[in-house]
Amino acid sequence: MNVLGIETSCDETGIAIVDHESRVLAEQLHSQIDTHAQFGGVVPELASRDHVRKITPLIQATLRQSALSLDEVDGVAYTAGPGLVGALFVGASLGEALAWALQKPAISVHHMEAHLLVPFLDQSSGIEFPFLCLLVSGGHTLLVHARSLGDYRVLGESRDDAVGEAFDKVAQQLALGYPGGPAIEKLAGSAVQSLTPFPRPMLDKPGLDFSFSGLKTHTLLSFQKSHRTMQDKANIAQAFQDAVVDTLFKKCRRAIAQTGLNTLVIAGGVSANRQLRKVFEKFSAENIKVIFPELKRCTDNGVMIAYAGMLHMKHGTSKHGNEIQVRPRWSLNQSEII
Ligand code: KG4
Ligand code: ZN
Repeated sequence: MNVLGIETSCDETGIAIVDHESRVLAEQLHSQIDTHAQFGGVVPELASRDHVRKITPLIQATLRQSALSLDEVDGVAYTAGPGLVGALFVGASLGEALAWALQKPAISVHHMEAHLLVPFLDQSSGIEFPFLCLLVSGGHTLLVHARSLGDYRVLGESRDDAVGEAFDKVAQQLALGYPGGPAIEKLAGSAVQSLTPFPRPMLDKPGLDFSFSGLKTHTLLSFQKSHRTMQDKANIAQAFQDAVVDTLFKKCRRAIAQTGLNTLVIAGGVSANRQLRKVFEKFSAENIKVIFPELKRCTDNGVMIAYAGMLHMKHGTSKHGNEIQVRPRWSLNQSEII
C-alpha cells in the first residue's frame, strides 16, 4: 500500500509517498521562507498562491523519485487542518480531486496528529502507546495523553501565543529575521552574560496550560532597556530561550507526575531546538524515556502526512474525505479526531 501525502497548512509545500511498511519512497519539500522573510512572518495570501504554483510540480517530482505510476498510489492523504484556511484549501482540493480521479480513498489528516505520530517512523525509537506528548509548533503548544492511534486527550495548551510563535515574535522584535526559532537559537549560542532569569510563566499556578505572551513582552522591555548591541541581543535571546525551555520542562514533569506515564515524545518545529533537546535529556536520569523526531521531521513536511494517512488507512480509522472540507481550527481531542 502506497500513500501520497500533501502538506500545505502554512508555509511549506511538502509531498511524500510512504508505503505500508513505513518506508519513505520519496519526499519533496518547498519552503516559502524567502517569500515571507521580508515581511517578518507568514502572509497568508502569498502562502496560498505559492502552494498553488508548487503543488503539481512537486507531486510530479515525488512520483518520479519513487518510480511509481499514479495507478500505484492507493490513497491520498492531505492536511485538512488546523492551519491557514486558504493554504489548507490548496492541498485539500488537489488531494480530493486526485483521489476522485484515481478512484482511491482520500484521507483527511490532522496536522498536529501527524507531528505526534512522525517519531514512530524511526523504528529504533522503540516508541509505544500510551505516552505523553509535548507538541510545540508555530501555531500550537499542546500537552497530550496519547492513548492509542486516534485516541488523544489534550491535558494542557497555550492560552495565548504558541511557543514557536513567541520565538518568531521575539526574533522580529530583535530584528533577527524569519523564522525566529533557528535565529534565536543561533544567537543565544554567543551569549556571554547570564541575565537575571526571565519569568517562567504559569509555573506558580496549578494545571498544565501555558502562556507565553507575557514573557514575550518582558523580553521586549529588556531589549528596550539595553544598549541594543548585538551582544545584548545574544544575552537576551539566551535568557528568553532558557525561560521557555525551563517552563516546558517543568510543565512536562508535572504532567508525568499527574499521569504516571514514563514515555515523553516531543514534536513540532520547536523540538528541533538543541537547548530544549539537551535539557529534556535530564528526564533520562529519572527513568523517563524521551523521544524526539529526526531533525528534518520536526518542522512541517509531507512525510508526516503520508505516514499518518497510511497508519489510519491500514488500521481502518481513516477519516475519508469525498468533499473538500478544511478545519482551520481543529481540536486534537479524541471525540473530534475520528
Ligand atoms: O511545526 P512547524 O514547522 O510549523 C507549524 O506547524 O507551525 O513549526 C514552525 C515553528 C516556527 O515558529 C519556528 O520558529 C519554530 O518552529 N522553530 C524553532 C526551531 N526551528 C523551528 N524554534 C526554536 N528553535 C528551533 N531550532
Ligand atoms: Zn507543523
